[in-house]
Amino acid sequence: MDNAIRDFAIDLAQRAGDLLLGIRERGLNQESIRQKLGHFDIVTEADLASERFILSELAAAYPNYGIISEETNQHLSNAEWVWIVDPLDGTTNFAHGLPIYGVNIGLAHKGYPLLGVTYEPANNHTYWAVRGQGAWRRDGNVETPLHVSGINRLSGAVMATGFQYARTGAGRARHTEFAILDSMTQSVRRLGAASLTMVWVASGNLEAYWETGLKPWDFAPGWVMVEEAGGLLTEYDGTPAQLSSHTLIISNGQPAIRDAIERTVAEVAAQVEPASAAGPEHD
Ligand code: IPD
Ligand code: CA
Ligand code: CA
Repeated sequence: MDNAIRDFAIDLAQRAGDLLLGIRERGLNQESIRQKLGHFDIVTEADLASERFILSELAAAYPNYGIISEETNQHLSNAEWVWIVDPLDGTTNFAHGLPIYGVNIGLAHKGYPLLGVTYEPANNHTYWAVRGQGAWRRDGNVETPLHVSGINRLSGAVMATGFQYARTGAGRARHTEFAILDSMTQSVRRLGAASLTMVWVASGNLEAYWETGLKPWDFAPGWVMVEEAGGLLTEYDGTPAQLSSHTLIISNGQPAIRDAIERTVAEVAAQVEPASAAGPEHD
């Protein structure tokens, strides 16, 4: 992969982030907030404006590439090269003026992400990774390599999770997982932005992150970042991640850390009644 395409994606994520900051500065139009699956799942004018901008730039510069994006084309594309876009990850945080949100742009070749960019507008931090070239934080002309942490004891670990949008019915199992792992570790966080949570695993700030219900635009850039930083991504059952994965354990690769999550989610799943476990994820 040449540097031009990487720098194009970085510049695009930064410009989309500037657009988001502009909307926050002038004040988000509350009338623009719409519910998707319910009051717990919203989309704002900012998600849509950022996506419109990113998609038009991608289509102009790479007309033969496929695009998957959260608000427009959610279906996995058959194109050889596919851009994967979350124009605003952490919408609920953004809508409440919390600074934990990001822009995610990934590029996959034959279903395997090779490039990942996450931009964090509130701190003007840019994170990128390319397979074989490492994972980096770029500040102006300065590039700092990212490395996962070496912490290998649960008692020294800080983890994060997310509850997607399912917090009732079978979705309550997420709270049980949280409680169990919270008692075994220094702490468990729920940060509200998969993009930045993955970047913070890659940067060594968090030892692990697990979530069910993730979508490719949430995790494709972070996938490249975490692996290039020395970490590990698998599905809950230990099989390798794919773009179609929904359950992921993302870790610094230390067996004690990863295995505790795998064991906990399996134990909690076994306690949930099969009928409700198979119920709708979005309830
Ligand atoms: C969501 C956030 C949240 C995570 C959800 C994502 P959105 O993305 O990343 O932290 O728990 O799984 O869907 O809707 O803010 O782009
Ligand atoms: Ca997202
Ligand atoms: Ca989003």
